Amino acid sequence: MNRTPFSKKTRIVVIGTGAVGSTTAYTLLLRGRMDELVLIDANAEKAKGDALDMNHGMPFLGNTDVWAGTYEDCRDADIVIITAGAAQKPGESRIDLLKRNAAILESITDEVLKYNKDGILLVASNPVDVMSYLTWRKSGWPARRVIGSGTLLDSARFRYLIGQELQVDPRSVHAHIVGEHGDSELPLWSLSNIAGGQLSLNEEKKAEIFANTRDAAYQIIEAKGATYYAIALALDRICTAILRSEAAVLNVSTLLKDYHGISDVYLGVPCVVDRTGVREVLGLQITEEERQRLQASADKLKGVIASIGL
Ligand code: NAD
Ligand code: LAC
Repeated sequence: MNRTPFSKKTRIVVIGTGAVGSTTAYTLLLRGRMDELVLIDANAEKAKGDALDMNHGMPFLGNTDVWAGTYEDCRDADIVIITAGAAQKPGESRIDLLKRNAAILESITDEVLKYNKDGILLVASNPVDVMSYLTWRKSGWPARRVIGSGTLLDSARFRYLIGQELQVDPRSVHAHIVGEHGDSELPLWSLSNIAGGQLSLNEEKKAEIFANTRDAAYQIIEAKGATYYAIALALDRICTAILRSEAAVLNVSTLLKDYHGISDVYLGVPCVVDRTGVREVLGLQITEEERQRLQASADKLKGVIASIGL
């Protein structure tokens, strides 16, 4: 499956074809995002089975080449999505996955780097901000090309819940969750709006909406063991912004450099995403209380990063 120097085929590699990886691959396929889709998993049979299953859908979809590959196939990848590793069991937090997934992400990054020097790494494995930071440090790549899914999913949950409450299409709700993709995340209520107008929500309702946003994954994992549909759509959204060089504003996890005084940690904040990756982190006017909560989220993650010796 080596590409000729003249070919302009778009290739996405998905590493980890569990619940998140296989759903993401299928979402990308349904939406025709690439010419070539490579699936890699430590369980090679799982990746092989997924590739076969997806290929049998080609008569209904058209021509995407899908195969279960090896790390060599990362050579021509535009985007390598990493969804491998342990997932939370009911009652576990994302941080509880830290040590298991740090070792997995390190070994995957080593393998990818043998073959790919100029693609974009898109990390979803949890705890995603720490895994993205680790992958960035290990890769030596510019931070703009190592992106975490961040709080894009959380912001989608937030917008959905606000939309439900106010009976407005969530695509018309502008609202952001920032910080850790996890328990210390925070809502930017001061910047939330519909058509520029303030949201007519009282404090009690706001608290309820945020709690349901922050705790959504716990609820879903309790109910069915894993989350995968919405994260697959969020990853598809990021891939689309990259491949079409949209300069879309997405709350992905990126390296902060003096962002409201915060540096040297990956956190979810609104970023401009284009073909080069994270082109820019958007400066936002937030309140002092929001700034303090963002700082607390950063301090928490810096502690976690330090605990694995980074
Ligand atoms: P899963 O257990 O269904 O799948 C994980 C897959 O990773 C398995 O197929 C396993 O064989 C594979 N794997 C393990 N080690 C590997 C290695 N070294 N190389 C290649 N493959 C390897 O888990 P899941 O539900 O798909 O979740 C995957 C990760 O995504 C978890 O860490 C989970 O917490 C995270 N997640 C993140 C978000 C987000 O918003 N960022 C959302 C949902 C899940
Ligand atoms: C989520 C995962 C578990 O759905 O991080 O938020």
